[in-house]
Amino acid sequence: MIIAVDGPAAAGKGTLTRALAEHYGLPRLDTGVLYRAVAATLLADCLDPADTEVCARVAGTLDLSRFADADLRTSEVSQLASVVSSQPDVRKALLMFQRAFAARPPGAVLDGRDIGTVVCPDADVKLFVTASTEARARRRWLELRQAGTDIDLQSVFENIRDRDERDSSRGTSPMRCADDAHLLDTTEMDIEAAFRAAVSIIDAVWPGTGG
Ligand code: DC
Repeated sequence: MIIAVDGPAAAGKGTLTRALAEHYGLPRLDTGVLYRAVAATLLADCLDPADTEVCARVAGTLDLSRFADADLRTSEVSQLASVVSSQPDVRKALLMFQRAFAARPPGAVLDGRDIGTVVCPDADVKLFVTASTEARARRRWLELRQAGTDIDLQSVFENIRDRDERDSSRGTSPMRCADDAHLLDTTEMDIEAAFRAAVSIIDAVWPGTGG
């Protein structure tokens, strides 16, 4: 079973897909990490993000073990990941890896921006998880504060708004809710409620798959 989860920045896809992967006994791929690792490599090696050939080469020879998760979550890496992800050759270089991951039995839970539309258009279940920009900014701000990062709410809001704008307006594989995706708006939900809502959608499509 392939579960595709797309949606804008800080919508809670990470927490939700981790819980879904555990519940259904499936491996999980956070595809944002791939784009983040491309950005982190460009920064670490002082490479030019405007050089599309260099970026594509980095994407094609990515070494994920080079970075700790925290190094991939800085706002500098977040913004640059969003910028380089608009390059068609970067997306092409990462596409096969994502498809191969999804194709291995027994399937997978993947989260990103274009999973239901481009990476796995035939996914068994597609969710598009969103929430208001204000709610997403507040959640991300609380997370960052808990992790000891000193940042103001307005900066987090602007970072998220800019990324959403870029991710949804690019020419190649823009973030989009697939026509056959189930929309899950978590503005008024906590993670427990979002998880229950997602499971009830998935179990309705695939009865008997639940724990
Ligand atoms: O999901 P995330 O916030 O970790 O993703 C970081 C950036 O990577 C995001 O701003 C856009 C890009 N991305 C993408 O273009 N396609 C994906 N499937 C996943 C992420």
